[in-house]
Amino acid sequence: MSRNVIVIGTQWGDEGKGAIVDLLAEQAHAVVRFQGGHNAGHTLVIGGEKTVLHLIPSGILRDGVSCLIGNGVVVSLEALVQEMDELLNKGVPVGERLRISPACPLVLSSHEALDNARERARGNEAIGTTGRGIGPAYEDKIARRALRISDLFFPDLLEGRLRSLLDLHNFLLQQYYGMDSIPFDEELQKIVMLSERVKPMVADVTQILDEMQAGERSVLFEGAQGTMLDIDLGTYPFVTSSNTTVGGAATGTGMGSGQVDYVLGIVKAYTTRVGAGPFPTELFDDMGQRLAEVGAEFGATTGRPRRCGWFDAISLRRAVFINSLTGLAVTKLDVLDGLEEVKICTGYCLDGVPLEVPPLLMERYGDCEPMYESMPGWQASTSGITTYRELPKEAQSYLERIEEILQTPIDIISTGPEREAVIIRRQPFGLV
Ligand code: GDP
Ligand code: IMO
Ligand code: MG
Repeated sequence: MSRNVIVIGTQWGDEGKGAIVDLLAEQAHAVVRFQGGHNAGHTLVIGGEKTVLHLIPSGILRDGVSCLIGNGVVVSLEALVQEMDELLNKGVPVGERLRISPACPLVLSSHEALDNARERARGNEAIGTTGRGIGPAYEDKIARRALRISDLFFPDLLEGRLRSLLDLHNFLLQQYYGMDSIPFDEELQKIVMLSERVKPMVADVTQILDEMQAGERSVLFEGAQGTMLDIDLGTYPFVTSSNTTVGGAATGTGMGSGQVDYVLGIVKAYTTRVGAGPFPTELFDDMGQRLAEVGAEFGATTGRPRRCGWFDAISLRRAVFINSLTGLAVTKLDVLDGLEEVKICTGYCLDGVPLEVPPLLMERYGDCEPMYESMPGWQASTSGITTYRELPKEAQSYLERIEEILQTPIDIISTGPEREAVIIRRQPFGLV
């Protein structure tokens, strides 16, 4: 039986991780976020009611499941408290279920201002960030000058650290970017006020996980963003500022990497990307439009339209290796219903030369032409189907071809946004 299951996005985010984490949380004692911040938008649909989570783990709607925010996550107190309030209004006892590591760096108003100032300054080269201050917050963490959750317990220290950090941020904002500064007093007051809501939930997340291991408890690690947005291994510089890949689960929580039992890669039955950067299988025609409309492809955090394209098995092969994927969950299969043909990109062509792996130089990624395998589509609806044998045979062939190319089993198939619209062929926790 697996005890530690890691859920990873394998594309450019928004693969439907939240819905799968919520599903699997039924089998888990804890769900842990390990990287990213409120740039994430994880959608759960239960009994027709939609909940979008940004910072809080997607197990929060499950009674009896502890939700943990590990040290790898950057925390905006404002976003956290707002999300807590939304959940409390729905009757979810967040305070009882949520625990936060004292080592989480804080995302400040000045990080958000810097994020937006930098994007503006990049002009045509803008990354298309979510504008939540995530990049600048991680910069300060790496530069060893960040404010952390632990500072909330030491008011004098907090004030001193905030003053020197804001001095730097305001210098940059005013002198370099020509923007307004962030007033120190207001920021301090805001942090102190919000901290009263957050402090009672601060706990040693690493220790909680250690105890869970000793007690043979099942833990689900919830990745945010996706493999191609990884700061080191993604389509740099059009990436986010954290390690979205499997190693992040260890460094972002304090769990040893030897403890990993199963890594589940979440992949859409096609590909989407929000923000700028290379995307070889992007479609600019009616088909792209159709995927966007049927898949309701609008960002869960910013509401921006997502770019859409065919399934890219080349980048997926890399994601399988990078993350040591045990199995895959293919989501949004129903979005492909009714198509005459479906395509899988099985190679790139660069300067007339076929490639079976992404190009060595990331700068050339955008010049890759996709090479496709075409397969017959299916006309019947797969929406809400819960058993594999009920799927149209063309849909089965499409999935089996993906398994064959990636040499990885598809253990879960999702056929709708609702919690129940799912086919489970093999339970990652091994309980089915
Ligand atoms: P995440 O960031 O990976 O958690 O994914 P998002 O929540 O940002 O985006 C996934 C979107 O697809 C959400 O609107 C989900 O409700 C929806 N969704 C998830 N699984 C399915 C599915 O199997 N079929 C359909 N049609 N929608 C799905
Ligand atoms: P979930 O967890 C999709 C993208 C942004 C931008 C780049 C950098 O819902 O899958 P950032 O604000 O992180 O500095 O932006 O990363 N991005 C996401 N795209 N899903 C996400 O999260 C994303 N989080 C960030 O659009 O291209
Ligand atoms: Mg999302």
